[in-house]
Amino acid sequence: MAKSTLSFVCQNCGAAYNRWQGKCDACGEWNTLAEEDTTGNVPVSIRSKRKGRTFALESLSGKSHDAPRLSSGMAELDRVTGGGFVRGSVLLVGGDPGIGKSTLLTQATSMMARAGHRAVYISGEEAVAQVRLRAERLGLANAPVQLASETSVEDIVSTLSEGTVPRLIVIDSIQTMWTDTVESAPGTVTQVRASAQALIRFAKKTGAAIILVGHVTKDGQIAGPRVVEHMVDAVLSFEGEGSQQFRILRAVKNRFGPTDEIGVFEMTGLGLREVSNPSELFLSERDLGSPGTAVFAGIEGTRPVLVELQALVAPTSLGTPRRAVVGWDPSRLSMVLAVLEAHCGVKLSGHDVYLNVAGGLRIQEPAADLAAAAALVSSLVNAPLPTDAVYFGEVSLSGAVRPVAQTSARLKEAAKLGFGRAVLPESARGDVGDAGLALNSVGGLTTLVAEIAARGTPRGNHQAQRDAEPVEKNATPARFRREKG
Ligand code: TYD
Ligand code: MG
Repeated sequence: MAKSTLSFVCQNCGAAYNRWQGKCDACGEWNTLAEEDTTGNVPVSIRSKRKGRTFALESLSGKSHDAPRLSSGMAELDRVTGGGFVRGSVLLVGGDPGIGKSTLLTQATSMMARAGHRAVYISGEEAVAQVRLRAERLGLANAPVQLASETSVEDIVSTLSEGTVPRLIVIDSIQTMWTDTVESAPGTVTQVRASAQALIRFAKKTGAAIILVGHVTKDGQIAGPRVVEHMVDAVLSFEGEGSQQFRILRAVKNRFGPTDEIGVFEMTGLGLREVSNPSELFLSERDLGSPGTAVFAGIEGTRPVLVELQALVAPTSLGTPRRAVVGWDPSRLSMVLAVLEAHCGVKLSGHDVYLNVAGGLRIQEPAADLAAAAALVSSLVNAPLPTDAVYFGEVSLSGAVRPVAQTSARLKEAAKLGFGRAVLPESARGDVGDAGLALNSVGGLTTLVAEIAARGTPRGNHQAQRDAEPVEKNATPARFRREKG
């Protein structure tokens, strides 16, 4: 009998230790180590001392079957997967609880089933009745999806091995699955890993596409799907602000497609609605004519996306002013602030700075620098930017505005949505094409700051008025004056 080796496995990142300790050295999380039997990672049958069989080695140039894809029937989902599900591939969909993973996958399986494919939905979290209730609400109750509420991987695999091979299998969620081959409790890293391995083996063998659902918890209570990420072919993350109806599906890893595409959905009372033109949605609730907002013409994957950046610059009451940013890289914000201070004479060290990307989108492009700078200066000097202008361009540390890729696609999208002018890098002119927009090219950030500053006065405190009043030197405000005697 194999000797059982007990070790302490971090439930967050999967690192194993011989002794218990409070903090995981690998990922830095506290209280995430749990005792597990790790022998079972490899089933006993495989660990036997049999002689390895020989296999044929192939050449690189041989004929390979190109990955046959299967459309999910949802264009936004296909966009993110790179054109549909690849046969025999395994996909992990991660996201916070309640974000809409089960809803998305119920819709996808129903679409596939309606298109005549065998689609199976296995829920380990909800009873069959609950899944039916959701399907009813989504108007999909009549779709010929094969449904079950099961958690044993062995049972699932033997059930699905019968009959025609399913084209799509959804496992909701991988944390609830367990296999006989290991002794740990369901939800532990060892169980999640072994269950995923068994399902991946089944997918590769039969050619069925499998989608694993994984919860992401911040405190590492449940084994995060992190450990599964390197085993699967693609990892999609489903994101969104709980309070907002927009949901964004993003590929984090994809062996068969691009990783920079996003799919945009809107959560409605009738399930997730695909948003094929996200710019219209992100700009639909624009606050026209208020200072501190600038429209950024961005690119997400192959698609231009226009989104509003909102900035608030307000005098601080703290020793160290606050810098808070939602939807953008905080270090990018610090860089833009430093360039504004150093090269454009904009003093921000006495101000709190808040920056928000509207609609819950997360921007990763450096091209947003110029729009962010415009929004910040606009808020500081309390001058609204022209409502019909879009901004894009990368700001370098020297204060120069550098060109970015796909200028003409950005301009076309802006023109399509009725914008009249674009503020863009000077050197981008060659790439412009026939945009139908007035172009305001800026070579350096200083030019832009001067243009915006000329439009307004400093916020609220009526500096000009106060400067004009004669002020007694070293005057102490009344409330700080001490009465003599
Ligand atoms: P769900 O798909 O169960 O989330 P997850 O599987 O990621 O945990 O969706 C949960 C939320 O979605 C829930 O708060 C209700 C909301 N919802 C709608 O707004 N409309 C709908 O049609 C459905 C089915 C859910
Ligand atoms: Mg769910």
